[in-house]
Amino acid sequence: MSLMQRASDKVNLSDKILKWYDHNARILPFRTHPSDIKNGLRPNPYHVWLSEVMLQQTTIKAVIDYFHKFIALWPTIFDLAAADNDDVMAAWAGLGYYSRARNLHKCAKLIVSTYDGNFPKDAETLQKLPGIGPYTSAAIASIAFDQPAPVVDGNIERVVTRLKQIATPLPDAKSEIRAYVEEITPQKRPGDFAQAMMDIGATLCTPKNPVCGFCPLHQDCASYKVGDMLKYPVKKPKAEKPHRYGLAVIVIDENENICVEKMPEKGLFGGMYVFPYTDQLKQKFSVDKLVNKKDIHTNIHNVSDCHHWINNIKSIINSDDIEDVDKTVENELTSTSNKYDSLPTVKHIFTHFSLDLESVIIRQKNISCGVHQRLVPLKNLEHIALPSLMKKLLKHLQTYMAAQKHSEELCLT
Ligand code: ADE
Repeated sequence: MSLMQRASDKVNLSDKILKWYDHNARILPFRTHPSDIKNGLRPNPYHVWLSEVMLQQTTIKAVIDYFHKFIALWPTIFDLAAADNDDVMAAWAGLGYYSRARNLHKCAKLIVSTYDGNFPKDAETLQKLPGIGPYTSAAIASIAFDQPAPVVDGNIERVVTRLKQIATPLPDAKSEIRAYVEEITPQKRPGDFAQAMMDIGATLCTPKNPVCGFCPLHQDCASYKVGDMLKYPVKKPKAEKPHRYGLAVIVIDENENICVEKMPEKGLFGGMYVFPYTDQLKQKFSVDKLVNKKDIHTNIHNVSDCHHWINNIKSIINSDDIEDVDKTVENELTSTSNKYDSLPTVKHIFTHFSLDLESVIIRQKNISCGVHQRLVPLKNLEHIALPSLMKKLLKHLQTYMAAQKHSEELCLT
């Protein structure tokens, strides 16, 4: 095929895609519709950046409410940069991958301090900012600033591997896909083109039931021609995720204050609050077999190598009254009943492992919080930055506390 022919095919393809987008673009709160762009409206770079960071590894459905919340709380990049980090983390809670929230805030501060609140326009400079990788930099450059940077997300990978019957398994196929996207990205309206490709992938070229009859590319699609669309994208088999067991210790004082701990900035849940917990147990903890506080101490030793965590838990759980509790238990020696309440085991799937998290509830009068810990009233726990795993526990805890209150009221009457 001559170079001329290839160039004209390319134009043909991008024209078809843009024409389709003009009539079928999804209406999204962070998106400027092509008809508005034609009338001279430009996308707001702050909205584009915020939504693209939120959309990393997260669905549009999950992002929309968070996007509205963020722009209501912080209408401009200056507002976000000036916000308290705890407030940003709390607003992000539930969206997952919390390093994104930390980087988002860092990036906002940098844009204000170094760039007077104006985002750089080219993908190369954007990529140097916190939380902005190859995908996000290309998306911002093309959508917000009309730069023809090749945008490749999961949806676009599916469209392209089908269109060109790319049989190389992902992730090895990424460079081939990117090179092709670079070839077909038009100089005019590259942002609309990128979003059109995303919409085709999300609404027509779907993983299981592609609706090829409605696709503007079906005549150009190599896999459609032979009907093997479902073969693509080819993926390397995934290694099975390891399974872990964990234990959370929920310590509550007489005024329904609960001990929470701020996680270190780096690592899982960085900067978020958690109930003191470990996900490093060698086996199931079996909270239901606990009888006294000594059990908690010895059991923790039996199932965990994590000395830092053991000491942490020991210091919160008041060991002064271990003897008293044990004596009480000894007096009831025949009793094998569980001394401690627990919440239902919470199951959670992370990127690299799955977790069964048990929890034990400790009621004690004096809680000695460590440096990174604080007491938060039960009713305020909803307003601090708890990751989804801990939100699941909180739901169980609220139900448990309501049931406790109810039974106390019954006893009083
Ligand atoms: N996924 C990530 N960014 C998107 C956008 N701008 N439009 C649709 N889907 C997206």
